[in-house]
Amino acid sequence: MDNKYTSEYFQNLPDSLVWFEDGSLNMAYNVLDHNIEKGNGNKTALIYEAEDGTTTEITFFSLVRKSNRIANYLHQIGIKKGDRVSIFLPRIPELFYIFLGIMKTGAIASVYFSAFESEALKDRLSNSGSKIVFTNKNLLPRVEKIKNDLSELSSILVVDNEEFIAEYESQSDSFETAHTQAEDYAFMLYTSGTTGKPKGIVHAHYAIIQQIASAKLCLDLQPNDVYWCTADPGWITGIVYSILSNWALGITTVVYGGKFEAEKWYEIIAKHKVTVWYTAPTAIRMLMAKGEELVQKHDLSSLRFLASVGEPLNPEAILWGNKVFGKFFHDTWWQTETGSIMIANTPSLGIHPGSMGKPLPWVEAKIMDDNMEEVVVNEEGNLCLKPYWPSIMRTIWQDEEKYKSYFKDEWYISGDKAKKDEKGYFWFIGRADDLIKTSGERIGPFEVESVLIEHPDVVEAGVIGKPDVVRGEIIKAFVVLKDESLASEKLKSELADFVKTHLAGHAYPREIEFIDRLPKTRSGKIMRRILRAKELGQPIGDISTLEDY
Ligand code: PRX
Repeated sequence: MDNKYTSEYFQNLPDSLVWFEDGSLNMAYNVLDHNIEKGNGNKTALIYEAEDGTTTEITFFSLVRKSNRIANYLHQIGIKKGDRVSIFLPRIPELFYIFLGIMKTGAIASVYFSAFESEALKDRLSNSGSKIVFTNKNLLPRVEKIKNDLSELSSILVVDNEEFIAEYESQSDSFETAHTQAEDYAFMLYTSGTTGKPKGIVHAHYAIIQQIASAKLCLDLQPNDVYWCTADPGWITGIVYSILSNWALGITTVVYGGKFEAEKWYEIIAKHKVTVWYTAPTAIRMLMAKGEELVQKHDLSSLRFLASVGEPLNPEAILWGNKVFGKFFHDTWWQTETGSIMIANTPSLGIHPGSMGKPLPWVEAKIMDDNMEEVVVNEEGNLCLKPYWPSIMRTIWQDEEKYKSYFKDEWYISGDKAKKDEKGYFWFIGRADDLIKTSGERIGPFEVESVLIEHPDVVEAGVIGKPDVVRGEIIKAFVVLKDESLASEKLKSELADFVKTHLAGHAYPREIEFIDRLPKTRSGKIMRRILRAKELGQPIGDISTLEDY
């Protein structure tokens, strides 16, 4: 295969993918239909538990048929290869098979987290030029509000609407999966950076080869496992490790549709006898806060392997996990852009509490300084990876410039600061930019600032991530008011609500401070690093570019 995104390692993985006879490859076929060929048709693919406790089990056969109906429906309404089709749904079974049905047609699937409000949704739908958006009655008003601003959007499909259901049910449940090429675009996910609007990170069908390999290696998935990944498919973890790699491996997967609640989570593990559990540090810390007694009320003896992702996993959380579950959480590191786990405490490697682990066998990682020179052992630097691997993003939708900015001297620059110790373990230090990680969710300060300044009382705002023992970071906003006398606790909560209703329920500032002016460079850029240093009582550092402050 003449492909710069492969390596000897992946070319030598026998039978790990099904290619069509003409050499084409479709991710969704590998994820679902291949299970029929492997004899998994009658196996439960999805155990779905709704917030009210109702449980639905769906087999691989059934998922294949459901995704085929979606694909036929999309064909019927004129969707073609390369078109963008979006999903704006909560965690319900429809989301899962619609996502795969879209990819079966050769269209590019995109999912938006259901906490987004109209404006955030508009940015994503308009940038992607989506022709179709799938939503439900509950979320429909947010789409209705902006539909007239979306010139490329031709249909809004409401999955719990009778008309849709009738149309869907009238479709054939067999479908000839599109013969896409390995390098054709399969899906894209919007994610935040320090500056500008969210970016559409685009992944290719060939990514599945590495997603499968990484799930096998890092999550220790075995045929009889009952696997629960708690991430929402609005984020990359929920796509790659709750839909793609797990089902491609024929693994029975649990999805819980409700919000986090410690007791409920333990009930789910006990009820479905979850064996492999992939979650996030904030959730683990929230469970810790609820105490050991609650754990002991449930039979969690089915658990065999635990893993974590998305933010630094503190040693206390690992040690607590071992104490109460008798198992260590294995930290894994990766990004929306990398498309699969790159660094991990794999089962064979064992645990080094506080370390992200070692690069996977097919990954070359280095810690480099700003001049792209490798730094010495235990010295902090930029975490860089040698491109190109099969699951790396192929582009950033309509922003080639931004895409190119990730690469320098033939290395991919992750944007994370880290160090490597003498044994080759990598340790996370922090971000090299102002990106915020709150409860493991990625938020760009610019997006929050842009909403705050829309409020009539606000002149300017600077937003940072403030360290928090449970959430990793919380969003803190420094706000300059039009009139100082407006400052009040009431206005603070009004501003927090303003962000909730204009951006997203998960992306609002939990802390707001009114200040006279923001530190800025002479060219007018907000220096968030200074806001952060002040907040933490740290030295302010180099301020030579600062305007008089
Ligand atoms: O800063 C790193 C942090 O999350 C960022 C990527 O976020 P996102 O694209 O949302 O993907 C998250 C899940 C794949 C990284 O640049 N991050 C991710 N994993 C870890 C982490 N920080 C510390 N430790 C980790 N294990």
